[in-house]
Amino acid sequence: MDLKNISPFFFFALLISIAKALDPSCASHSDGSDDLSIIPTYSKCYPFSPPKTDSLVTTVLKMASKDPARVNYLSSLVAQKTTSAPIASGQQVLNIANYVVRLKLGTPGQLMNMVLDTSNDIAWAPCSGCTGCSSTTFLPNSSSTYGSLDCSVPECAQARGLSCSTIGSTAANGCFFNQSYGGDSSFSATLVQDALTLGKDVIPKFSFGCINSVSGGSIPSQGLLGLGRGSMSLLSQTGSLYSGLFSYCLPSFKSYYFSGSLKLGPAGQPKSIRTTPLLRNPRRPSLYYVNLTGISVGRVLVPIAPELLAFNPNTGAGTIIDSGTVITRFVQPVYMALRDEFRKQVNGTFSSLGAFDTCFSATNEVVAPAIALQFTGLKLTLPMENSLIHSSSGSLACLAMGAAPNNVNSVLNVIANLQQQNLRILFDVANSVVGIARESCN
Ligand SMILES: *[C@@H]1O[C@H](CO)[C@@H](O)[C@H](O)[C@H]1NC(C)=O
Ligand SMILES: *[C@@H]1O[C@H](CO)[C@@H](O)[C@H](O)[C@H]1NC(C)=O
Ligand SMILES: *[C@@H]1O[C@H](CO)[C@@H](O)[C@H](O)[C@H]1NC(C)=O
Ligand SMILES: *[C@@H]1O[C@H](CO)[C@@H](O)[C@H](O)[C@H]1NC(C)=O
Repeated sequence: MDLKNISPFFFFALLISIAKALDPSCASHSDGSDDLSIIPTYSKCYPFSPPKTDSLVTTVLKMASKDPARVNYLSSLVAQKTTSAPIASGQQVLNIANYVVRLKLGTPGQLMNMVLDTSNDIAWAPCSGCTGCSSTTFLPNSSSTYGSLDCSVPECAQARGLSCSTIGSTAANGCFFNQSYGGDSSFSATLVQDALTLGKDVIPKFSFGCINSVSGGSIPSQGLLGLGRGSMSLLSQTGSLYSGLFSYCLPSFKSYYFSGSLKLGPAGQPKSIRTTPLLRNPRRPSLYYVNLTGISVGRVLVPIAPELLAFNPNTGAGTIIDSGTVITRFVQPVYMALRDEFRKQVNGTFSSLGAFDTCFSATNEVVAPAIALQFTGLKLTLPMENSLIHSSSGSLACLAMGAAPNNVNSVLNVIANLQQQNLRILFDVANSVVGIARESCN
């Protein structure tokens, strides 16, 4: 990647991702008892979210299954079993360091490029009349299938983290909720429903936040599609339609094309793909955990104490795969060990560039060792494009990873999107596996 093509926003986003994880209010709670008293600011600490309770999730899923019209319609779609929506580098499309998926909201469909986010549980889009939003907004008045949701519906309690009665609203009120995002930004939204078109499928009555006002600069300008494991995410709202399975291929950051894809449902997925168990951590139930057991640099297995990588349901520690973080971050001692081995094998002198602390002369790049991540049952050797990033002049190559901020909350290793370019990542929630295969989707 060439840094001259990367906007200041890229570094801005990196700084944000550091800042939000440093926020002391993002520390893990010692128990889950106070969760329901929290106004949903879970994105603020994303992906270091406070846990949500299971019971509410279960309740909402049960309630949702009681919507007969919706279930009938979804059943009628089951024969299709698959759909595919295009993905592009947000850097090229919206000037943000994230990936966007092209979809349509409403009837007739209004085109939106929404950030693809596996660690967020709800979708949201800027709506007409929004204060502080950019020009592309969803126009509810132009959609024949648009509907608002009142405060009493279970989806509302899930979206806002509070029941209607808790704040003294009446059932007839709209479902208003606020969310923080990216450490420095927040928005106010109304929970609404409308048709969501993904590829050839139309998902009716999809619930999402219609943004009325934003503050701060990091709210994705055309909204976000939450693909997490919570009850309001795309996968949960589509029930059994896609058999609890989706995959994506993220094209190169540098690619200008909508050549990547989000594929939902079992058809059209790679026939043979190596897999590792998908783990669910009750401390952070929205996130996609895998068991990272080791890291190699070239032929050397980096010495890492097993407890630094261990999955821990009590602390939330472990490794997640995330499509919304830019560069992979390991807990500090793990990153140091990886970096030291990498430096040893490259030889020479190293300098820093922004968030990257291991930059070296690009002429030395040929000797840069490949980095491999060993998961239970699956070894992922990163292509060079996914390990190194280049300075604007092209003279420096930098190891494109970093350490998680060293605070009480840093127990999570995050495999981020720069490390996922041109791979197909398959999340089979129903069968609790994650599959990874090489795929060129530039
Ligand atoms: C949408 O329609 C409603 C009711 O007809 C109207 O009050 C509102 O101003 C319209 N909003 C916009 C943004 O046009
Ligand atoms: C959202 O934030 C606004 C502005 O701070 C506040 O007026 C409003 O009451 C909040 N709404 C909810 C549901 O918390
Ligand atoms: C992760 O892998 C290690 C090493 O093979 C194993 O001891 C541990 O039980 C695994 N953890 C989970 C949660 O699967
Ligand atoms: C790095 O230095 C070591 C020790 O001097 C040497 O054995 C090795 O060949 C060097 N590696 C490269 C890639 O130059």
